[in-house]
Amino acid sequence: MGTATSYWATANAFETPPISPDGRQAQSGLEQKSIEMQHWQHWQHWQHWQHWQHWQHCYPEDIDGAMNQEFWLSKWKNNTIGFHRGQPNELLLKHATWSTDGPCTILVPLCGKSVDLLWLAERGHSVVGVELSEMAAAAFFEEAGLSPTVQQKGAFQSYSHGPIEILCGDLFDFKTTDLTAIGGVYDRASLVALPENLRKKYASWLAAGLSANTELFLISVQYAVGARKGPPFSVAEQEVTALFEQSFVIKKLGTTPATDLKDCDEVCYRIVRR
Ligand SMILES: C[S@@+](CC[C@H](N)C(=O)[O-])C[C@H]1O[C@@H](n2cnc3c(N)ncnc32)[C@H](O)[C@@H]1O
Repeated sequence: MGTATSYWATANAFETPPISPDGRQAQSGLEQKSIEMQHWQHWQHWQHWQHWQHWQHCYPEDIDGAMNQEFWLSKWKNNTIGFHRGQPNELLLKHATWSTDGPCTILVPLCGKSVDLLWLAERGHSVVGVELSEMAAAAFFEEAGLSPTVQQKGAFQSYSHGPIEILCGDLFDFKTTDLTAIGGVYDRASLVALPENLRKKYASWLAAGLSANTELFLISVQYAVGARKGPPFSVAEQEVTALFEQSFVIKKLGTTPATDLKDCDEVCYRIVRR
């Protein structure tokens, strides 16, 4: 696998100016690629923010796994993906720590077509996303201007280019032991996308699959009880503790108002496997 720089050097450029939507000037070719991506995603973000409303009133808490999958596949099919953001997550930018130990493999469960995958790859990490929808994986690579290699890998359809691979299928069919070494896990809008029964299954899946000292960087969503129906579900600190404390050491890192969810906070945690 090549370095992040040689990887991006082979990517197609978008015809956009080297100034990010927030006015930042590109300092390198790599950063320009990121800024071009931001321009592309910026209008998409604007276009989709109202779809957050569609998260509500259609997803009963006691839903089972199969219904959960139909729900998400129809979101992608109908392009009602208000959860998707055009910018890397602010809490990720501020608090991510995996890079202190050098590049590693970051697992991104329920990754959608998140631009955070690009941000992680730009920092030299290998990134493995797991996502139910092949539409999401195809859109991710298309919007990044990259032609993925598509191949079957066990129960998963793999889309990959350079250091980024998206495995399409059910997360709960994925065995973390299939990856040689997971250096970290990144969860934004993944735990909170799952109803309560699957949140418990997800936490057990992580506990079973991660080796000691592996860090989960979790960005949860929190809002007042009854303020809205999920997804995204409100997963407060008390629930994070209940889900993970038996097998992990939990540290709350920061809170920020969710930019596209009224009266909601995003709260991030460093959760390290004992
Ligand atoms: C709320 S979205 C979050 C996407 C991404 N993390 C982001 O920040 O944009 C949840 C994603 O999980 C995917 N998903 C839901 N259930 C899944 C499952 N059992 N296995 C794999 N992906 C799943 C959905 O298709 C959807 O793209």
